[in-house]
Amino acid sequence: MGLIEEIQRRRTFAIISHPDAGKTTLTEKLLLFGGAIHVAGAVKSNKIKKTATSDFMEIEKQRGISVATSVMGFEYKDHKVNILDTPGHQDFAEDTFRTLTAVDSVIIVVDAAKGVEAQTRKLMEVCRMRKTPVMVFINKMDRPSKDAFDLLDEIEEELKIKVRPLSWPIGNGPTFQGVYNIFESNLNLFEASKQTVQESIAFSDVNNPELEGYIGESASELLREEIELVEGVYPDFDINEYLKGDLAPVFFGSALNNFGVNELLNCFITIAPTPQPSSTIQRDINPDENKFTGFVFKIHANMDPNHRNRIAFVKICSGKFERNKNYHHVRQGKNFKFSSPTAFMAEKKSIIDEAFPGDIVGLPDSGNFIIGDTITEGEKINFKGLPSFSPELFRYIENADPMKSKQLAKGIDQLMDEGVAQLFTSQFNGRKIIGTVGALQFEVIEHRLNNEYNAKCRYEPINLYKACWVRSKNTAQLEDFKRRKNQYMAKDKQGRDVFLADSAYMLQLAQQNFEDIEFHFTSEF
Ligand code: G4P
Repeated sequence: MGLIEEIQRRRTFAIISHPDAGKTTLTEKLLLFGGAIHVAGAVKSNKIKKTATSDFMEIEKQRGISVATSVMGFEYKDHKVNILDTPGHQDFAEDTFRTLTAVDSVIIVVDAAKGVEAQTRKLMEVCRMRKTPVMVFINKMDRPSKDAFDLLDEIEEELKIKVRPLSWPIGNGPTFQGVYNIFESNLNLFEASKQTVQESIAFSDVNNPELEGYIGESASELLREEIELVEGVYPDFDINEYLKGDLAPVFFGSALNNFGVNELLNCFITIAPTPQPSSTIQRDINPDENKFTGFVFKIHANMDPNHRNRIAFVKICSGKFERNKNYHHVRQGKNFKFSSPTAFMAEKKSIIDEAFPGDIVGLPDSGNFIIGDTITEGEKINFKGLPSFSPELFRYIENADPMKSKQLAKGIDQLMDEGVAQLFTSQFNGRKIIGTVGALQFEVIEHRLNNEYNAKCRYEPINLYKACWVRSKNTAQLEDFKRRKNQYMAKDKQGRDVFLADSAYMLQLAQQNFEDIEFHFTSEF
């Protein structure tokens, strides 16, 4: 198969949801369809339950498991489907944001009883920003649910995207009888707890009187009314609107009961985008270019504390990636050969010889990569779109074991490269400050420093509101600003100027008083 064919058959996506909506269950069912796993329960969730926020064992387990489940590839009807897992816990939202930079589309899972929840709204903002096409799966229809039209209105309003139902539920909870698949014009009858795929019944027209025989008179009547309303209210499904990120096709089902998942997957491989072009600072890269390019969007530490090896996850953007070929690490200006790149097929990790745009390969790494690194066949380009977000929680980090200061420095350095948190060095007193997006990261850092680097840290409180990157063409004003705000100035790991505001008021005032200075809330600008 040539490069173009390989690209055409790939679909790389992420499933996002508010915790508990059913992301893990849906992932598992998709893998079952793809034959990547054979029994339910094989995919452990990449999530930390709410109750376990300070349970270190749980974090460890989660981290170990998520190496295997970070990327799940499988073959389905001549397509290569790559699912990128995202942590459900909100403290790891940044990880999720970065993963979203490596996908071409997204499936959003919404709980039919709860509707759109906070985390989904946030993640959708990222999709909107990047114009990522999204599909919606309304899950748990076997439970008493909100009215289907209300759910659609809610999605439209809360996620700020037009919707178009491509399947329609017949009842819900105890009265749930199945769905009418608008996309394929067939009827799927629901049987609880059935793990095999139901046969669908071809039904090009819901007005066919045979419908009563399947779902009864009153349900048939209601379905006909509702389908008529759907066709009246929503314009015909337009794939281009979906591909532009303006319209979300919606499916209903019950992942736990393996219901509606097959329809979702069939529609997905038909309409979801193939690997898309990516932007670098220098130029746009098309997947069908002959030369290989890729970037690191995630780094995962190994579980074994005796081998501090890590895995750098590389998204292939163009060309063919080959094992043992010389590739150029743009930031370091050095060439590397990778003898054991791995691909991920559900629970299994295996060494591969080649990979194509849309695929993710895992490169064993002893510390050469940081998030955002670009690998090419020699061209000096830098992929864009991997921002660091301005952290909102801060603590001073101090060495708690003077004999281990080297280990501590190395540990902090590597954990920051992994994107666990951000490190700032105060220009005022030279102290090191850790900034995070979620509180859990502080515990993770302390625990991992101890466990993997044999170093001990101690935190001290610091009262800060927000860190923002400052830049200005007016160098005199910038210098003046830095001098006057000396106490609040820091450098990030790349040596860029960061302003640490201790209150919203202070930040506002600084923005007013220093008009020529740009205050950035993400580090990529
Ligand atoms: P998440 O990854 O989005 O956090 O959600 P997950 O799949 O773990 O699902 C959360 C809970 O919802 C699980 O129950 C799961 O079994 C249940 N669930 C998922 N899909 C459906 C569905 O279609 N119908 C119904 N009724 N329930 C569903 P749990 O009790 O929290 O976990 P578990 O112990 O059963 O794994």
